[in-house]
Amino acid sequence: MARKATKSVFMLFIALMFNPTAWAVGDAPPLIAGTCVGCHGHEGSSMGPSIPTIAGLDVETFIHMMKIYRDNTDSLGDEHFFLDGHPSTIMGRIAKGYTDAEIEVMAKYFGSKPFVRQVQKVDQKKVKRGRILHQQYCEKCHEQDGHVDVDEGGILAGQWMPYLRHSIIDFNIGSRKLPRDMSRRLRMMIRRYGQSSVDDVVNFYGSQNY
Ligand code: HEC
Ligand code: HEC
Repeated sequence: MARKATKSVFMLFIALMFNPTAWAVGDAPPLIAGTCVGCHGHEGSSMGPSIPTIAGLDVETFIHMMKIYRDNTDSLGDEHFFLDGHPSTIMGRIAKGYTDAEIEVMAKYFGSKPFVRQVQKVDQKKVKRGRILHQQYCEKCHEQDGHVDVDEGGILAGQWMPYLRHSIIDFNIGSRKLPRDMSRRLRMMIRRYGQSSVDDVVNFYGSQNY
C-alpha cells in the first residue's frame, strides 16, 4: 500500500517534469517565469516605467508577442529595430532562450494573473482629449477603454506611459509592424489632431488605475 502511494507520488513527479503546463495549474509560479519577474514585476505587474506589465494578457497575445521577439531575424543590423516585426531593446535576446512549450506555460501563468495598475502622473486636460480620441480611433480594437485584450492588441489601460509612448513612436516610424487598419487610424488621428494627440491618448490610458 505504502509502496503504491510512493509509486504514484513518483509518477506524479515524473508527469510534472515532462508536462510543463501542469506547473501552471497551481499557485506557485513556474520556475522559468522567475527570470521574467525580475524585470516585469511580481506576477507580471511591473513597477515601471519603461518595462511593460505582462499580466492578464490573452494566452494567444502573449505567445504572439514572444514569437515575434524570438523568431524575427530581419534585423537591420541595429539590434533595437526589426524590419518586419517587433522592435525591442532586450526581449529579442531573452525570447530566444525559450521553446514553444515553455512560452505556452508562461503565457498561461501570466495570463491568469491580474494586471495591477499603479497611479501615474497625468495631465487631466490631455486625459479628457485622449478619451474622445480613443473612442473615435482606437476603441474598435482596444475595447472597454483599452482594458480588454482582444485580437492580440494587448492591454493599454493602466500600462506604463513611457512604454506606451515608445511603442506608439515605434509604430509611427514604421519599425514595428502593425495591422493595417491600426496604422491607418493612427495616421488619421495624427494628421487631424497633430502629434500631440499621441500624448493625449497615452495620458488617457495612464489615467486608468482601476
Ligand atoms: C532585463 C529585463 C527583462 C526581462 C528579464 C524580461 N523582460 Fe520582457 N520586456 C522587457 C522590456 C524592456 C520590454 C519592452 C520591449 C523591449 O524593449 O525589449 C519587454 C516586453 C515584453 C513583452 C511584450 C509586452 C507588450 O505589452 O508588448 C512580453 C510578452 C514579455 N516582455 C515577456 C517576458 C517574459 C515571458 C520574460 C521571461 C522569460 C521576460 N519578458 C523577461 C524587459 C524584460
Ligand atoms: C484595427 C484594430 C486596431 C486599432 C483600430 C488600433 N489598434 Fe492598437 N493594436 C492593435 C493590434 C492587433 C496590436 C498588437 C500589434 C502587435 O502585433 O504587436 C496593437 C497594439 C497597440 C499598442 C502596443 C501594445 C503593447 O502592449 O505592446 C499600442 C500602444 C496601441 N496599439 C495603441 C493604439 C492606439 C492609440 C490606437 C488608436 C489611435 C489604436 N491602437 C488603434 C490593433 C488596433
